[in-house]
Amino acid sequence: MNIGIDIEEVKRFNKYVKNKSWLKRVFTEEEISYSLSKKNAIEHLAVRFAAKEAIWKALSTRNKQIIITDISVMNTKNGKPQVYIKNKKCNKIDVSLSHTNKYVAAVAIFF
Ligand SMILES: CC(C)(COP(=O)(O)OP(=O)(O)OC[C@H]1O[C@@H](n2cnc3c(N)ncnc32)[C@H](O)[C@@H]1OP(=O)(O)O)[C@@H](O)C(=O)NCCC(=O)NCCS
Repeated sequence: MNIGIDIEEVKRFNKYVKNKSWLKRVFTEEEISYSLSKKNAIEHLAVRFAAKEAIWKALSTRNKQIIITDISVMNTKNGKPQVYIKNKKCNKIDVSLSHTNKYVAAVAIFF
């Protein structure tokens, strides 16, 4: 089992939220449309960025072929985040997300 954690300041993402090319480099279309559908869009994007970093940390000692943009997070119907690696559902990694208007945090476990 391996664990990863990341925390980010929301204000760091202010300049990115309207930068479509940056968003498309980092997030999937689904992550972008989910986040932009929320009134606190920056928090949802920032926490997904934190999730990618946390997941990468959890994976890093085991899999060097995965880069951050291969990782995405979408929620199931009940709101629980589900991890995808290269667009495939990955049930070996669990992630938990939390956000406020100042900070976002993510913890990932690879088991
Ligand atoms: C789902 C819930 C736990 C989210 O907590 P919150 O403090 O409002 O918000 P946080 O910022 O900490 O967490 C938000 C993230 O929780 C995650 N989340 C939502 N539903 C979830 C679920 N069913 N399982 C796991 N994670 C979930 C999502 O990733 C969400 O972020 P996202 O929309 O960007 O993906 C909360 O809204 C809730 O429904 N609580 C019910 C439990 C309760 O009654 N508590 C009262 C105290 S006993």
